[in-house]
Amino acid sequence: MYNNKPNMVELPAGTHYICQCGNSKNKPFCDGSHAGSGKTPSAITLEAPKKVFLCDCGESKNKPFCDASHTKKA
Ligand code: FES
Repeated sequence: MYNNKPNMVELPAGTHYICQCGNSKNKPFCDGSHAGSGKTPSAITLEAPKKVFLCDCGESKNKPFCDASHTKKA
């Protein structure tokens, strides 16, 4: 299930797997719920801790990051 607003998260350095199927119970992170959906998580690798805005409307053209597409949804 998608929400119609971005997820702002502060992530530590390292690799993070971001849900792209909308079904994770641990959003914005992948929890394996995508199995059988044909979708896969996006990997983000950060060299240093960083605040990021992640798409949670499913429409961003720059996934997993928000590109403000949620503001154009009806
Ligand atoms: S649970 Fe959604 S992509 Fe893995």
